[in-house]
This record gives sequence, structure tokens and C-alpha cells, in this order.
Amino acid sequence: MRTDTGQVFRLEDYRPSDYLIPQTRLTVRLAPDATTVVAELTIERRPGGDAAPPLVLDGDGLKLKRIELESVAQPAHEATPERLVLNDLPATDRFTLILETELDPDDNKALMGLYRSNGVYCTQCEPEGFRRITYFLDRPDVLSVYHVRIEAPHAAAPLLLSNGNPVASGELGNGWHFAEWHDPHPKPSYLFALVAGDLGRLGDSFTTMSGREVELGIYVEHGKEKLAAYAMDALKRSMTWDEEVFGREYDLDVFNIVAVSDFNMGAMENKGLNIFNDKYVLADETTATDTDFANIEAIIAHEYFHNWTGNRITCRDWFQLCLKEGLTVYRDHEFSADQRSRGVKRIAEVRTLRALQFPEDQGPLAHPVRPRRYREINNFYTATVYEKGSEVVRMLRTILGAAMFRAGMDLYFERHDGQACTIEDFLKVFEDVSGRDLSQFGLWYNQSGTPNLTIKPSYEAGTLTLEIEQSVPPTPSESRKRAMHIPLAFGLIGSDGKELEWTEVEGASVEDGVIHVRKRSHKLRFHGVAERPILSLNRGFSAPITLAVEQKPEDLIFLAGHDSDPFARWQAFNTLLTDSLISAYRCVRGDTRLRFPSQIAQLAGRIAADASLEPAYRALAITLPSETDIARDIGKDIDPDAIFVARRGLSDFIARSNHEPFAELYRELRDDGPFSPDAAGAGRRALRNVVLGYLARIEGGADLAGTQFSAATNMTDLVAALGTLAHDHAGSPQAEAALADFAARHGAMPLAMDKWFQIQATAPGEQALDTVRALMRHPAFSADNPNRVRALLGTFSGGNQTGFHRADGAAYAFFAEMLKDIDQRNPQLSARLATAFRSWRSLEPVRQQKARQALASIAGASDVSVDLRDIVERSLA
Ligand code: ARG
Ligand code: ZN
Repeated sequence: MRTDTGQVFRLEDYRPSDYLIPQTRLTVRLAPDATTVVAELTIERRPGGDAAPPLVLDGDGLKLKRIELESVAQPAHEATPERLVLNDLPATDRFTLILETELDPDDNKALMGLYRSNGVYCTQCEPEGFRRITYFLDRPDVLSVYHVRIEAPHAAAPLLLSNGNPVASGELGNGWHFAEWHDPHPKPSYLFALVAGDLGRLGDSFTTMSGREVELGIYVEHGKEKLAAYAMDALKRSMTWDEEVFGREYDLDVFNIVAVSDFNMGAMENKGLNIFNDKYVLADETTATDTDFANIEAIIAHEYFHNWTGNRITCRDWFQLCLKEGLTVYRDHEFSADQRSRGVKRIAEVRTLRALQFPEDQGPLAHPVRPRRYREINNFYTATVYEKGSEVVRMLRTILGAAMFRAGMDLYFERHDGQACTIEDFLKVFEDVSGRDLSQFGLWYNQSGTPNLTIKPSYEAGTLTLEIEQSVPPTPSESRKRAMHIPLAFGLIGSDGKELEWTEVEGASVEDGVIHVRKRSHKLRFHGVAERPILSLNRGFSAPITLAVEQKPEDLIFLAGHDSDPFARWQAFNTLLTDSLISAYRCVRGDTRLRFPSQIAQLAGRIAADASLEPAYRALAITLPSETDIARDIGKDIDPDAIFVARRGLSDFIARSNHEPFAELYRELRDDGPFSPDAAGAGRRALRNVVLGYLARIEGGADLAGTQFSAATNMTDLVAALGTLAHDHAGSPQAEAALADFAARHGAMPLAMDKWFQIQATAPGEQALDTVRALMRHPAFSADNPNRVRALLGTFSGGNQTGFHRADGAAYAFFAEMLKDIDQRNPQLSARLATAFRSWRSLEPVRQQKARQALASIAGASDVSVDLRDIVERSLA
């Protein structure tokens, strides 16, 4: 484990490497605890560089067994686990260096570099895992052509995969065999991959737009091939979509995906050989929920789209991570929007952004979409880089228009194919095609924090005036902010629900339904507006900002029923719900009686039953803001128990007011046809299960959920029923029976058991801590497997407000102990989990104090990884 060396990496310190490695030949001889890697590197002095600088290669925990320079054994060198330095180099411009290292894949619990998961050898090299395999210039701007030879015992590893195309294979005697792979596309080391093991295969093929045949393979545990069918379908749809929408064709003869069960992240876009967390590959209706299906579709697409945005055009350095991630998330969002319902997809995206990115931007871990400094790059695979990064690309398209955006993307692919680029390169193509100056827009990459717009509307004699003020709250190390370019999509709605026109506008540029806010304050005047309009603002969530607008409840009710923009329509009702939840919270804290406006319940009933709206939309609309959403909107001095009481109060109020119609709707939505994971089927199930959540709160609720649990023929309905039982009727015979039944049915399927862990870890109340402690001893749990740990400890800390934030601080102390323990084996995982503490300063004083103590206990420990220390120290700063 690497502990802190105090080293900070800064964007401004970037300089090109002195040497290049145009060719890399690897021979990997696999054995569980003694794998040897022979790397034959063709090294060149960078043209125009210094005369004879030393060659300094990166390593991480490496053991050098042999070194040879231009056929000379044991040349003068200095090798430590972290570095290999050669000072005396041949006078030639190009030379060959041969290195042999020895690895212990079984001992690798950090899941970076080469490790074994369930008997399968696999690799994860992004961002800096390749240096755990061999010494190298392990940085994304060093591109190399790889030729890989893998040798392994046939019995243990009949399957041998690497990047590119297969070029040779054969027997070696003694039960060993080999395979060779050649990847013609120069790539950075983080895209290297190797897989070896005994796996089942689902095969298919795809014919590209120019008529080339690509062989597709998805490799999974034997017997699970059928569970890869949905992923395969998603892959083929992704390939077609990228051709149709971005003109991008696949560029190798094979495309392989391997599912592994121990994986730190979602998946990895290694060239021609994507490696996936099996959670994002394996699915059928009895093991996966509709959310799982949607995630699989999105992540398969995401990794495939990286082939162009990430692999063909990569990042110059890790500060530019958003260049590939933000852009590729944008692309996968668009893909899902096209495959499903655009409006519904957008609402879901915004909910995710607010749940994951807003708290990051508003807390101690805030950083720009393109950070300027880091201690550990692994801690920057964040919602800001990914999700906000995607929003920035979306804004660019809003500003330029679809056609100009596409022209810019075309130029990007043409100009930068085969290069390692920066955000400046990306913005420049759009400046060049449009002739616009995007320097102010570029602040979205460089300035952290969520901008706020305060808007004061007034109407008089045909003129609508909007006074707009923008501000960006201070964030760590950025106290003063510059004014941003915020594209604010809007509509003016008349009393008949139609859009109102205007004759003239002054005070800011307004184009195609978008107000371009560029200054700290604008006074906008729309002349010739026939009546006082109702304002629909930030339509489609055109900018990732917060809005403060004086809007009457009647106006919000009107918008919730009439706005033609699905996002804005959803937002209007969500704002009403949030407002009444926050006033209820104040009542709970002030010990006064809870009261809710009856209009809210009526409107919920009307939206739920409105057959002109998609069921998926209705489900999202009547889902109450989560306890974390409410906490974020309250902002400070948070008492999670009071939030829980307020939210439950509103939920009960809506349920009681709509008892009959909800019961009716629940019956109507029963699915009797064959299962389909498509958006329409998922939408119906979503609505029915949200309604179940309401009905479960009134008399007979436990029986209703119990009946659904017994009758369920798919995982979505099953976990919805189980969750309702375990959360709303905890300890009831129905709940106990259902939990036991689920474990009996799914005990052998770890991914299904994760749902069982999750449900119990999120049961509200302070007893959840004891439940979690007990479940850590369950045979299906493993503290080494990231999926298990996230299902239990991750959902407990991130998704159980009353349990994790119990007032005595016992859960914080427990969690800190768990983090220190996990950190010994998997620093990436412990660091990621530790971000659960990031909003500790917005808690009420007693909890704040306890959370600080827990964080301090980690900071004070001596054997803490650089990853975990970085998160903890930034959180405390
Ligand atoms: N590039 C991967 C993706 O598509 C993420 C890999 C990150 N891995 C890591 N160990 N930090 O999102
Ligand atoms: Zn990605």
C-alpha cells in the first residue's frame, strides 16, 4: 500500500516526456503467485528534446528480475519498487530495453494492475495500474503499439485475451499453451488489458457501416452465457448508434467484453477488450431490476463509445480526464435518451447530478471539472468530472446548436485522431467551426462550485422584466469567482397554457428559447408580451445551476400541469413537494403540528392517474425527494431524524388522500404479458411500485406488499415488495418471511444478494447499525469484494440518513473502523466510501462533532493509504 509522500501533482507542471516508447512487446507467463512479465520496449528520444537525459520509468511495488539494454545484460541502473532509472544510455536515437518483473496476482487485493478474480486473471490499468505490471512511462501521452504473448496452463486458462486482434496461438507442451495479440492502434498504457481463465462465451457479429465484419464476444462464468444476452443487444445498438449519430465506425476485427466479479468501478474501456464489473453485464428478469437493465445498457454504450472518445483520442494528462469522461457520459446519455424516453431520461440524469455532484460542489471535496491539482488521481473519478463534465458538453451543444456541435465533433475526430489532447484542443474545434469565442464558456472546466441564478420577474403594461443575478459560491482554494456563461432555456406561458410571444427583447442575448446570461447581473426586458406570463425556467435543465425565483404556488401548480417541457413540468411539482417538506421539517424541529396543503395530494393523485403522460414520468413525478435531497436543499444545521418524520408525514398524507384511486391504479397496472426490459414495461412497473410504496403505508399495506412479493415474476417487483416490507413493516412476520425467502432463493447469486444487503442496510432507524454489523458476518458477504462492500457499507453510509447519522455517532465510529480495515487491502474502495462524510459540516452541531471525531480518528492513524488520507484530510480542511 502506498502511503502519503506529500507529493502534489499540478497541471501547470506538465511537460512532455524525454522519451517515447513506440513499441511494446510483452510476454506474460501466468501463475497465481509468481507471474513473470517480460517487457521488450523500443525506446526513442523525443525529437527536439535534451541531449541525453536519464530515462526514468514508473513502477509501483515492482520486483525487477532481469534487465537488458541493447543486448547487454545488467546495464548500470537504479531500481526501486517505484522507479527504474538509467543514466547511461546508448548514443543512438532508438534502443531496446528488456525488463523482467515478477508479480503476485493472488495477493493483489487493490484490484489495480494484474489480479485474479474468481480464478480469472484480469487487469485494470487506468489510471496508473500498468506500472504495477512493468516499469514504463505510465502516462497517457505516451502511445505505444502493443504486441502481447500470454502463456498459461491450458486447464486453468483455456481462454487468453488481450487488446487488438488475435494473431497466433498454439500448444507449448507440459499442458501449457500460448496466444498472441497485436493491437495496431498506438495506445497509452492505461488501455492495456489481459484476461486469462476458463469462461463461457456468448458470441455474435456486427457489420459496420463500411461493410466490415466484427466478431463480438462476451465472456462470463460458465453457465451464465444467457445472462449476457441483454448486454450483447445493447452493444450492437451502441455500435449502430455511434455510426448513425456521430459517424463513428469500429476499427478492429474483434470486440470482446469480459465480466469479472471483483472490480473497483463500473467498467473499463481497454482497446478491443472491455472489462466489466459483472453487475453491469449479467441480467435477466429474475436476477436484475429495471434499473440494472438501464445501467447495463448505459455502461455497455459508455465503454464502447470510449473507443473514439478516449481511445482514438486520449488525454494528454490526468487533469484532462473529463475530456474523455464528460464527453463519453454525454454520448451515453444521448444514446439512452434515443433508446428510451428522452424526457424521462433527462429527469433521471438531473436527479443523479443533484444527488451526487451538487453535494460534491457544495462541500470540501469541490473541484473544477478539470482539476488543477491532485495527490491521488484515483480520487478524481468523480461526479464532477463525469456528470458535470457531461453537462458542460450538453451546454456547448445548446449554445452552438445541434448542427454546429456535430461539425465541431467531426473536426475533433479529424484533427486529433491518434493524439493525446487537452480541453483547450476540444474547445478550439468548436471555436473554429463556429467562429465564436468560447473563453468565458471555458470557465465551466476551470471554476468549481454550482452557480446560482436569482431571478426577480415583474410585469407591467406588456413588458416583462427579469432581474437576473448570478453568483458562484466560494469553494476550497477558489474564493473569488468570475461570471460564467449560463445558457438558460425558458418559456413564457400564457393562461391558456400556450407559449407567449414578444416583439423585442433588451438586456441580454436571447436566441432559440435560450437566455445567455454572461454578466453578474442583467435586467432583461421583453416587450409586447400580451399578458402576465408564467415563467418556465431552465427548461431541460439547460445549465447545471441552482435557481432562486419568486414563484407563486399557483404558478408552480399550473406549470406542473401544463409545461410542454417534461423536465420543467416535473421540476415544478418537485419544487412544490420540496417546499412543503422543508416547511414540515421546520414544524418538526419547532415541535408544531405537521400540515400539508391539500392541493399537493390532489395534484399527486391527478398526475399518477393522467393517462396522457408516460407511466415512467408519472412515477418520477410522484416520487418524493429523498431524505438526502431534502437535506441538501435545507443546506445547514441538518437533523436527519426530523427530515425523516417530515417526509414520512407527507408520504402518509398523499397516501391517505389518494387511497382509492391509488388502489385502483395499482390493480390496473398489473402486468400480465411476457416480461420486456424495455422502457415502456419498466415505466409501468416503476409507477406501480411507487404506488405500492404509498399504499404500503396504509391499512393492509403489509399484506399487499406480501402478496406482491409472493406473486412477483421479476426482480423489479420482488425487490420493490421486499423493500416496502423491510422498511415500512420492519419486524412484521411478512417482512421476516420475505427476507428469509429471498435469501433462500438467491443465496447462490451474489449480485442478487447485494440487493438483499442493500435493502436491510437502508432500513430507517438507529437499529440499522446492528443489522449491518450482523450482516458483515453473513456467508454471502465478503470484505474483499467491492460490490458486496458497496451494497452493505456503501448504501448504509450513503443511503440511510437516520441509520448512518444516528445522533450518538456510533455509526460514524463503526464506519471509520471499517474504512481503516478495508484500506489495508483496497485503498480505492476505502477512499470512495469515505466520501460519505463529505457533507458533515452541514449537520447539526452534535452530529458534526461526532463526524469530525470519526474523520480525525482516520487522519490520526499511521498506516493510511494516500487515497484515503487525501479524502479525509480534504474533508477536514
Ligand atoms: N474509464 C473507466 C470509465 O469508463 C473508469 C475506470 C476508472 N478506474 C479506476 N480505477 N479509477 O469510466
Ligand atoms: Zn468512462
